[in-house]
Amino acid sequence: MSPPTLPTGVERRLFDGDERLATRGASVYGEPTDGEWRVWDARRSKLGAMLEHGMETGLSGGETVLYLGAAAGTTVSHVADFSGPTYAVEFAARPTRDLLTVAEDRQNLFALLKDARKPETYAHIVEPVDVIVQDVATRGQAHVARANRPFLRDDGRLLAAVKARSEDVTADPESVFEQFSSQLDGYEILETQRLEPFHDDHLAVVARPDRDH
Ligand SMILES: C[S@@+](CC[C@H](N)C(=O)[O-])C[C@H]1O[C@@H](n2cnc3c(N)ncnc32)[C@H](O)[C@@H]1O
Repeated sequence: MSPPTLPTGVERRLFDGDERLATRGASVYGEPTDGEWRVWDARRSKLGAMLEHGMETGLSGGETVLYLGAAAGTTVSHVADFSGPTYAVEFAARPTRDLLTVAEDRQNLFALLKDARKPETYAHIVEPVDVIVQDVATRGQAHVARANRPFLRDDGRLLAAVKARSEDVTADPESVFEQFSSQLDGYEILETQRLEPFHDDHLAVVARPDRDH
């Protein structure tokens, strides 16, 4: 089987002799650049790691995106550089200040200082989306995915990175991942993949809205 193609706007390019994922746009976190291209560092990005692992994300480029857990904008800056309108939710004030700077360079990136567990607080701003990217690293990750499910178009995709230690530092990661999957009501899981060696004890999940819901 041939590996899934990358979204338009994401390429594998040579940086210092190594093939790396790259997108075009203003640099954000000191990543290596080559002209208008900049490295998308999979060690700094779970979505980057999902692409490096060849997961079928369904991304083709140009999608409308709701990004949950944007932090200072490392990954969402890349996402906005190959997507359409990109709504970035982050509830901590400090990283949101950096996120706002990242958004200044990107007309399609909208930073929202909001709690992803309370989608009603941004429902008046966010339109229906093709993709939800979730990287909240907090307790209740399945709840966050369920609560934001109404934003997702019927043919959309949830691309979630689940951090085991955020749910329970003492539990076996595999049992945390099983619990997350069993709590993902409203979605049908299409693919899962551990993100080692890029990120330890993280499970990446690709899911779509469950048609029976
Ligand atoms: C692992 S970091 C995200 C890194 C980021 N996705 C990236 O790749 O650049 C997780 C972020 O989720 C945020 N977060 C956790 N719970 C949240 C919630 N309920 N609502 C919004 N943001 C949340 C944290 O403040 C933190 O900045």
